[in-house]
Amino acid sequence: MIPPAHRRPPTAASRKKRSSKPARGQHTPHATTQDQRIQQPRKKKKQQRWWHGWSDEIAANTPLLPEPAELIDPPPPPTTCTRAAPCADLRPTAREPEREGKRERQWPTVRSLETPRDRKAMETGRHRSQSLGSAGLAFHALLCSSLLLNAVFFAHHLLRSSPTATPERLGDGLSWALQAAREAEAVAAADCSGHGNVFLDGVTGEDGRPRCECNRCFSGPDCSVRTPNCTADADSGNPLFLEPYWRRHAAASAVVFSGWHRLSYITTGGRFHSVELDRHIRLLHRAVGNAVVDDKYLVFGAGSMQLINALVYALSPDGNADSPPASVVATVPYYPKYKSQTDMFDGREYRWDGTTATWSNNGSRNSTKGFIEFVTSPNNPDTALRKPVLAGSSAIIDHAYYWPHLTHIPAPADEDVMLFTASKLSGHAGSRFGWALIRDEKVAKRALSYVEQSIMGASRDTQLRMLKILKVILANLHGKEDIFAFGYDVMRSRWRRLNAVVSRSTRISLQKIPPQYCTYFNRIKEPSPAYAWVKCEWEEDVDCYETLLAAGIISRSGTLSEAEARYTRMSLLKAQDDFDVLLERITEFVDAEEHGRAPGGSSSM
Ligand SMILES: Cc1ncc(COP(=O)(O)O)c(C=O)c1O
Repeated sequence: MIPPAHRRPPTAASRKKRSSKPARGQHTPHATTQDQRIQQPRKKKKQQRWWHGWSDEIAANTPLLPEPAELIDPPPPPTTCTRAAPCADLRPTAREPEREGKRERQWPTVRSLETPRDRKAMETGRHRSQSLGSAGLAFHALLCSSLLLNAVFFAHHLLRSSPTATPERLGDGLSWALQAAREAEAVAAADCSGHGNVFLDGVTGEDGRPRCECNRCFSGPDCSVRTPNCTADADSGNPLFLEPYWRRHAAASAVVFSGWHRLSYITTGGRFHSVELDRHIRLLHRAVGNAVVDDKYLVFGAGSMQLINALVYALSPDGNADSPPASVVATVPYYPKYKSQTDMFDGREYRWDGTTATWSNNGSRNSTKGFIEFVTSPNNPDTALRKPVLAGSSAIIDHAYYWPHLTHIPAPADEDVMLFTASKLSGHAGSRFGWALIRDEKVAKRALSYVEQSIMGASRDTQLRMLKILKVILANLHGKEDIFAFGYDVMRSRWRRLNAVVSRSTRISLQKIPPQYCTYFNRIKEPSPAYAWVKCEWEEDVDCYETLLAAGIISRSGTLSEAEARYTRMSLLKAQDDFDVLLERITEFVDAEEHGRAPGGSSSM
């Protein structure tokens, strides 16, 4: 009987072949002696690419990532493969040269189970009939034991190669990554009652372990205590609505890397940009259909926040030029950082010059030539899709929210200077990563030089994480785990629920958004905006922020966007707990209005 083919002991010829010098490119130039012993059999070619991906030098020549077509069905993640500890699938090969001899002896065969006595009896023919009987019995016994042994070995083999990774299995073949993986899994599995998280860098308790960080309105060691009458915080645009998506994709989105990974200031090709991340951003825009990328340069920043001033600088006249400073403007209501950053950096080449309303009515095209106009589309705070107002200005179109979970996508955007951020795409605001798509080479070079001068390029660790995140997004587009479908469902449901309550009110109203056709989903979509732009309708509610605050809701006053105080913004992007508390407070506010009393002891009614 022969053991399963792939467990067959190596022949002398195959041993010789395996122990011969590895083919070029089969190990990195930095491989240790042990690494150099690791030989890759030909049929494992796919895994070899992942293994190679961990060598910086080879990464320059060997693509680490699958080709676009493969993204639909991506190969196993590289997190289990390292140069020091190759993929679990490669593991037996790595150690085989040392074990071959032992293994050969371990495998039972019918021949090895024959006793010398049996053989002798058969050879001489003495005590023939007796011998025949006992030989037959012995043969059956041997056959049975051989069958049994093979069954045991086969079952053992099947269990070992089972694709479902048990904790023990996870440890197989990993060395230095295992501890980090254990730590990451331990904090992710910590019980915070669904109302908080434990983080690797969280403040530690007496037991030396990081403690639960509770969502707002929850407290206690495991976040199980709900704060009664808690004030809802709907201020910031913290995109935690996507956290459940990444919990669902924990395995695919995890990133593990060594302490010496990308130690250098520079990355592949002497640049500050990950070439692969650049490629994947372009793939994503093409696949989603929200931006034309083919004729654009990409500039990365530490969040799109950093690129706001980088682009103002890039579009302004040269500091040495004998021209007046550029006027930086935006249309009300606008994202307040455009003004605060322009004011703070206070370059000699540019200055904040107010809102477009001041300049658009003067009738002269030329007068806005030296202008830089910020346009946010969809707009923050009122979520409307917008176009530049001033003719002849250089426009920076901020498309932070131009993704199919937060708006419909009528067509790919194709402006000269566009801004995007990971924060609102995938929710990874903490990673601080944004990018600009720029048509003109000179402008792109100036923006790049700004980022290089200030931070020498976006963090390589962040770039690596974003690469992984984009791969997961790409691999799931239009599938049942599509991030945009997930995000859209959450945001549409929040908008519906909020509208259902506010529609009973005469005191506050929300912006009107009609259902629109979306090219990504290929159908008419209900609205799913990031923010509710609330208007206080009653005459006495002159400051809507204050009116809501009295009702236990923290919002962001419209005055910060130079809009009337009658308007205020409520964020819908936050964690589910935040939205639930917000909806409770709003419901109380509207109920109180119906019953003619003020909620939360407010005297503003
Ligand atoms: C319109 C707009 N642009 C840019 C940003 C900044 O995003 P990032 O997190 O990439 O700095 C935000 C954040 O809320 C935003 O609303």
